Amino acid sequence: MRMVDIIISKRNGNELTDEEIAFFVNGYTKGEIPDYQVSALMMAIYFKGMSKRETLTLTKLMADSGDLLDLSKIAGIKVDKHSTGGVGDKTSLALTPIVSACGVPIAKMSGRGLGHTGGTIDKLESFDGFNVSIPTEQFIDNVNTNGISIMGQTADLAPADKKLYALRDVTGTVENMSLIASSIMSKKLAAGADAIVLDVKTGSGAFMKTLEDSTALAKEMVEIGNGAGRKTVAIISDMDQPLGLAVGNAIEVREAIDTLNGHGPEDFTELVYTLATYMIMLGGKASSEDEALTMIKEAVSSGKALDKLAAFIGSQGGNTEQVYHPELLKVSDKTVTVKAEKDGYVDHIVCDRVGVACMMLGGGRASKEDVIDLSVGIRLVKKVGDEVKKGDDLAIVYYSREEGLESALERLQSSYVISDVKPEKQPLIKNIIK
Ligand code: URA
Repeated sequence: MRMVDIIISKRNGNELTDEEIAFFVNGYTKGEIPDYQVSALMMAIYFKGMSKRETLTLTKLMADSGDLLDLSKIAGIKVDKHSTGGVGDKTSLALTPIVSACGVPIAKMSGRGLGHTGGTIDKLESFDGFNVSIPTEQFIDNVNTNGISIMGQTADLAPADKKLYALRDVTGTVENMSLIASSIMSKKLAAGADAIVLDVKTGSGAFMKTLEDSTALAKEMVEIGNGAGRKTVAIISDMDQPLGLAVGNAIEVREAIDTLNGHGPEDFTELVYTLATYMIMLGGKASSEDEALTMIKEAVSSGKALDKLAAFIGSQGGNTEQVYHPELLKVSDKTVTVKAEKDGYVDHIVCDRVGVACMMLGGGRASKEDVIDLSVGIRLVKKVGDEVKKGDDLAIVYYSREEGLESALERLQSSYVISDVKPEKQPLIKNIIK
């Protein structure tokens, strides 16, 4: 078999055989096929697309290219969750303890943030002493003891995807639905869960800006998951404004804890409860949405969900006092307020600008090597639909250094679009793909 023939075949619009896909994935992972040939193939796929079979084959091969997490020593149906990334997205922090409190074991690998979206692992490090780099054996033991553990991604998860994604990034071939879906799902398959709930965002702060694209991506990922024998559901939710009120790291953890105490922001609570409903159903602990919702509400009102978070944080060396007293989490006390420049209604909040403003404060990474400041962040005082008068507070900025502050404030100010007309309320949950 020759790589050039595979490139020509795809360039001419043919379906590749499973053997041809295996030839290039395995050859490229081993370093036997050069970047320039794989770049050419990625561009041919970008223009000619892939069938469902080709996409599933590619996903499975990428998943199998490195470590496969073996969760078989954990009893029960393991349900994973993946978010396509957004601003203020602290969902895993509140969701996983709730689902675990409802009897579904959580064995989750999470990543760090890059660019304008944050990462769960960074947020978790807001707890003093919390360790994300635990050995796999301890990870499994913690799930068996406490019903929940989250650790940082190991280097060897789907290495074929790592190489291909880096290549696509510099060859203009990221934005192909099948390539994105297979890239995301390869890592989920390798992470070993029996079922997967996908939190697919749509809007200005999301990877997919339109509902049409988000739905197409969600459908493709659900098909891959089900095709690979993992029951998969996707929830498409609004990311046309940040989720909840807090954007940052420690400040988002505080908001997640508020939500576990039953008084989180309405939108965030709705998303967490919806995702939890499907995770609990896929985990076999409830047979209807109503039953799952009743369990969720009980887990929160009884304090069991908060206790789960404490058990999880404590088992990985974190300070559990900060779970019960979130005011002990370090949020900078230096603040400045962004104010409305005219009367009207908040029409929209350009979401990625809020994310970038937080990054400029030091709360996110522009490059992988950056060290982030967990104490900085933004609290939104006004959200879409709220009425404002000139001079009202729009958002509070928590900062710790002057560098970047002015630019962050300008970004944040310009992210608020005020209009004379009250915008129609948009639903948070846009679609559910089963
Ligand atoms: N995220 C991924 O993991 N892969 C893609 O291709 C795009 C987004």
